[in-house]
Amino acid sequence: MSEQPPGQVQIHGSRTAELVAVSRARHLLRHKPPYIFNDPFAFRFLSKRWQRILGSRLRDMIVSKVLLRRLMPITTQPLTRARFTEDRLLASIEKGVRQYVILGSGYDTFALRHPRLGVTIYEIDLASTIALKRERARAAGLAFPDCVRHIPFDFEKDDLGDKLTAHGFDPGKKSFFNWLGVTYYLSREAIQDTLKHVAGIACPGSEIVFDYLAEDGSIPEEKRPLAISLKNYVGKLGEPMITSFDPDRVESEFNVHGFWEVVCNDSPDDQHKRYVEGRSDVFALPPLFWCLNLIRQ
Ligand SMILES: C[S@@+](CC[C@H](N)C(=O)[O-])C[C@H]1O[C@@H](n2cnc3c(N)ncnc32)[C@H](O)[C@@H]1O
Repeated sequence: MSEQPPGQVQIHGSRTAELVAVSRARHLLRHKPPYIFNDPFAFRFLSKRWQRILGSRLRDMIVSKVLLRRLMPITTQPLTRARFTEDRLLASIEKGVRQYVILGSGYDTFALRHPRLGVTIYEIDLASTIALKRERARAAGLAFPDCVRHIPFDFEKDDLGDKLTAHGFDPGKKSFFNWLGVTYYLSREAIQDTLKHVAGIACPGSEIVFDYLAEDGSIPEEKRPLAISLKNYVGKLGEPMITSFDPDRVESEFNVHGFWEVVCNDSPDDQHKRYVEGRSDVFALPPLFWCLNLIRQ
């Protein structure tokens, strides 16, 4: 259990979650269809400040070509990881999965985009981020469908099984877990613990997808400055990136033995070829983040 006093994210809600929503909103405003990831609700979850920036081509240009120029290549990754995950999710829903758990849900809008799939959606995040998301939905006139449960939760402190079952989750039924954009902000112990806890409430055949940051030695030298810029930037937002992994040793790095089997350890290169190659409107996917898909044994 963490003895740390609450940081900015616990008090004000997640700024990095908002940046993910900015990338999704910007994709629809500035890029061409077919979209890598089509999220028509993302814009409505942004602060007034970000809505003003994206709402004006000039302001957006100043931010993207001057102020945040060096970080812009990162903006493709929230699109590809979400596409990868939701493609797998929709395939498992086709096969009968009816419980979808989003760990660190931020401004995820799957529930608004797919309100009638007959799937119960458990959105789990810090109380501060959930409160802000609900406030912004209300202000935008968006009503969450009845299939959504918003569950305040802290990975560093709370028991996932207790929280989920208290909200009606059935551990005897197959489920799909999405854990995107979160692992790098947690300690190695909290990540391994969470995977064990998820395994404890996920019956065989359940799946999880999450992304992780490659350790420095696995990032091509010329791309390391980008990783450093990103770490400095999100650190200043109060959400430091503290954990990275060796993509060649994921079983032992995540300590999955006996619980999970690797379905796919999707490299940035694989994702670039699948979703980005041939496009000139989005940035090439930088080789920093991998997506891991595990299935409960
Ligand atoms: C970069 S955002 C990703 C949001 C969403 N998964 C997405 O991809 O759009 C990281 C999310 O993790 C949440 N988070 C960070 N630390 C957490 C913790 N200790 N417990 C629960 N959630 C946490 C933040 O509130 C934020 O919503």
